[in-house]
Amino acid sequence: MATLAELAAQQTSLGEPVIDHLLRLTASWSLLSDLSFSDMLLMARVDEPNNRYDQHFVVLGQMRPNNRSTMINDDLVGTLQGPDAWPLVQLAFDSGTRIIGEVNVDAIDDVVPVWCVPVRFDGKIVAVMVRLQGPLRGPASLYEQAYLSIFERLCVMVADSTFPFREEGVAGPGLPRVGDGIILIDGDGRVEFATPNASNALHRMGVYGAAEGHTLPELGLRVRVVERSLEYALPAMEEIDRGHDVAILFHCVPLLEHGLVTGVVTMLRDVSDLRQLNRLVLNKEAAVREVHHRVKNNLQTISSLLRLQARRSDEEETRIALGEAERRVRSIAVVHEVLSREPGEEVSFDEIVRSLVLLVEDTVLALHPVEINVNGGLGTLSTDLATPLAVALAELLTNAVEHAFIDFGGANNDHVGVVTLNLYLEDGNAIAEIRDNGRGLGDDFSLEVPTSLGLSIVRDIIRAQLHGTIDMKSVGYAEGGGTFVKVSVPLSLRP
Ligand SMILES: Nc1ncnc2c1ncn2[C@@H]1O[C@H](COP(=O)(O)OP(=O)(O)O)[C@@H](O)[C@H]1O
Ligand SMILES: [Mg+2]
Repeated sequence: MATLAELAAQQTSLGEPVIDHLLRLTASWSLLSDLSFSDMLLMARVDEPNNRYDQHFVVLGQMRPNNRSTMINDDLVGTLQGPDAWPLVQLAFDSGTRIIGEVNVDAIDDVVPVWCVPVRFDGKIVAVMVRLQGPLRGPASLYEQAYLSIFERLCVMVADSTFPFREEGVAGPGLPRVGDGIILIDGDGRVEFATPNASNALHRMGVYGAAEGHTLPELGLRVRVVERSLEYALPAMEEIDRGHDVAILFHCVPLLEHGLVTGVVTMLRDVSDLRQLNRLVLNKEAAVREVHHRVKNNLQTISSLLRLQARRSDEEETRIALGEAERRVRSIAVVHEVLSREPGEEVSFDEIVRSLVLLVEDTVLALHPVEINVNGGLGTLSTDLATPLAVALAELLTNAVEHAFIDFGGANNDHVGVVTLNLYLEDGNAIAEIRDNGRGLGDDFSLEVPTSLGLSIVRDIIRAQLHGTIDMKSVGYAEGGGTFVKVSVPLSLRP
């Protein structure tokens, strides 16, 4: 059987980015099928030369619901369909709007309610998603109504090209499904409703009261993926463990309207039994190590992609910006690299610093010889603190190497630039001092003016994210000149 990509390439004139989009749609549309208790078909327009016998559409995908019996026993994928049989599909293509009506199709031999949802990509209608509604067993229950309203919001997103997500990396078997349990969270993070299965999962995590109307933190649950989905409008997955026996997998899909997050569909799956089994086979430490290893690899892939993209761009400014983005991603990868060797809640920051120094020496281009010295150390830090701090220090070290020695006459000069990093702990704070013997900061320099990206990132991380302080000043000539930066962040992150 031909795959979606093969069919699209043979029968349609859709380009690769569009086909990717449709692949992502069909990778995540079991959600749509289950929420609407319906069979789904994905139809694209057949390319002109292939368009014989007035067969205008090719079926690129088909999905059956898991919570209802299917209405289409045949496999329609790859078949050609005409506008006579599917006038509403034609209408959806032509009008670019959702068409709701009824169809009478051979494959079904019945008149059934149908929705034709235009699939938009890059402003164009590239396909139509067809929902063939199964017979409702009596009037829709409260949950069925709630499911349908989520389905409808997702259909709007399909037509707006905000669903599927470009970033969705999670798909496939093992993911929580609609039937496993759903919590619908509103735009303010409050639970709108939880299905009975979801309530059971919440019970297992120690939430006994009614969840409706409360935020998860109010219920005593910290689920970062939910916060992240609300904040960044990205789908994500996380396993929450409670003690040794309870493990619940959360899969969050944000709901968007006009670019704003108006809610998050959270599917929960109780994987406690699975985990119990896993534990017998695999020790957790090895698993965590493996995860960090993979995260590191993924980050390295991202940084390679950025490097490739930088090479391809003709403009200097773009190349520099992409190069900096690459370096930033790599500074995060450094943390995971260390964690992949010794996983845990805490990580040896001294090892991270060693790698960061190598990274800066490797990637920052300086015309002048520069030497980086590290004194002291911060020991082990919690990973929540270590990752952002590593990114901030990488920025500051980069700046010293990149900017401090600009007027020092290049490599032919005897002068050697020295950058010193002092690290120590004091009164429950981690302190980092970065000192260079360069040209110092310009007279008009101000840390508070948020013009340049590097220092804006540092400021955000140190002040907003880590609740610390940062001070940056030029050092007088008598004391050796150059720039002095002092960063202090509390070791315990609790605000
Ligand atoms: N150690 C330093 N010595 C001299 N100038 C510096 C130093 N650190 C930062 N600067 C100045 O501050 C500016 C802003 O830095 P940053 O926000 O990192 O942006 P960028 O590195 O992209 O120029 C730099 O362009 C530079 O002029
Ligand atoms: Mg910089």
